[in-house]
Amino acid sequence: MSRIIAISTNKGGVLKTSITTNLAGILSKDSKVLIIDSDNQGNASLSFGLQPDDFELSLYNVMVDGMNAKKAIVKAYENVDILPSNDDMSFLEFDILTNMHEYKKPFSLLKSKIKDIESDYDYILIDTPPNLGLTQGNVLSVSHEVLIPFQPESYSMRSLVKMLNAVKNFKEDHNPSMEVLGVVATLVDRRTVLHDEIVQECRKYCYEKGIKMFYAEIPKAIRYASSVAYEGLPATLTAKNNDLVKAYHDLKGEILQ
Ligand SMILES: Nc1ncnc2c1ncn2[C@@H]1O[C@H](COP(=O)(O)OP(=O)(O)OP(=O)(O)O)[C@@H](O)[C@H]1O
Ligand SMILES: [Mg+2]
Repeated sequence: MSRIIAISTNKGGVLKTSITTNLAGILSKDSKVLIIDSDNQGNASLSFGLQPDDFELSLYNVMVDGMNAKKAIVKAYENVDILPSNDDMSFLEFDILTNMHEYKKPFSLLKSKIKDIESDYDYILIDTPPNLGLTQGNVLSVSHEVLIPFQPESYSMRSLVKMLNAVKNFKEDHNPSMEVLGVVATLVDRRTVLHDEIVQECRKYCYEKGIKMFYAEIPKAIRYASSVAYEGLPATLTAKNNDLVKAYHDLKGEILQ
């Protein structure tokens, strides 16, 4: 059975897409991986050098028209497929909420379709938009596990607590078997005292709540991160060896433990 992992949080720019695509890069060495891009920005496709607006069929057609997901899936790399999103996804919420008589279970649009593809992959990684709305609800409804990126900034603890509560409530109401896979610190600059303090505060909070916080941290690394822009591939598929790639390998190791 495949392992379905959502990379989720309500915050923008905290490496949801980077984690999704870099983990996919590593896992693809010996497993078959599907990335479901549920963000209308289409950044997961862009990370593999694919233009989101070139796709005629996308996750939108799967969720709104009930199309078989296989029709929209494209190959991104050896052992990595993508079910893409593009600008069409920005209409999803409006199209569904204005036609509620047709869509009786608005959080189950993906659930009925994931069965068509689930058995084709070892891992399904779902990249999500930076908000908690209808799309995120559909993603959480099909996910076995949720990986939550955490950027240590002044007010991010408060936001993380709210996110964890939202996931807990959603789990109870819609997907009781879903688990929080863990929290991972991102864009960490260990030279910054504030980062150090906030990461420690987060570790303490997670420990007290019985939530896993990964030892691996994704460092702030502007130099390496830009490799996506030049090579059209996530760093784990291009760069030979650097701190960033090593951090993703460490994270993968902990996820598979
Ligand atoms: N290790 C890194 N250090 C610094 N910048 C990075 C790193 N990894 C990725 N970036 C850059 O940070 C930005 C945000 O990353 P990313 O797109 O993965 O975040 P996101 O959470 O998916 O954002 P959004 O909420 O917009 O979807 C991107 O421009 C990316 O190239
Ligand atoms: Mg993103």
